[in-house]
Amino acid sequence: MSAVTCRSFLFLVVWLTGANSHLLKFEDCGSVKGRVIQVDFVPCGYLNIEFSMLETVQNATILMNQIVEGKPEPAPLPYIYACNQYDFYGLTCPLHTGGRYNFSLDLAQEEPEFHLKGRFTLKDLPGHVIFCSQFNFWFC
Ligand SMILES: *[C@@H]1O[C@H](CO)[C@@H](O)[C@H](O)[C@H]1NC(C)=O
Ligand SMILES: *[C@@H]1O[C@H](CO)[C@@H](O)[C@H](O)[C@H]1NC(C)=O
Repeated sequence: MSAVTCRSFLFLVVWLTGANSHLLKFEDCGSVKGRVIQVDFVPCGYLNIEFSMLETVQNATILMNQIVEGKPEPAPLPYIYACNQYDFYGLTCPLHTGGRYNFSLDLAQEEPEFHLKGRFTLKDLPGHVIFCSQFNFWFC
């Protein structure tokens, strides 16, 4: 691709995904019953972790950690249950094999601006990992 074609292409990608939306680079940290497809981040807006299910689960919990010097430290979220919590995370259980879902988090709730490497672990109720994904983002 020439530089100009490449630039037009990038422009198109930015335009299609919305000016402030970024797909974040993420690392897998032990997904089992699901796979993360993409992590979409809108600064001071929301975070969407899109994932697909390899098995059906009836209910799920979500855990957030902050990675500090390589170690996961607790970073509590408002609800431990990921589903049916007044639509807080946008998830409705059960989560079905082959289905695609977004775990959504509103980021416009913490002040001051807070940057972190976060780890999100979604588990079924017996405690088996659905997905584990970590990436850099911020609250503001
Ligand atoms: C998931 O479990 C929580 C806690 O037991 C419960 O409040 C919620 O209704 C359950 N959701 C489903 C779909 O079973
Ligand atoms: C998840 O959200 C992203 C935007 O953040 C969207 O492109 C995608 O279609 C959504 N996926 C599902 C399964 O709703």
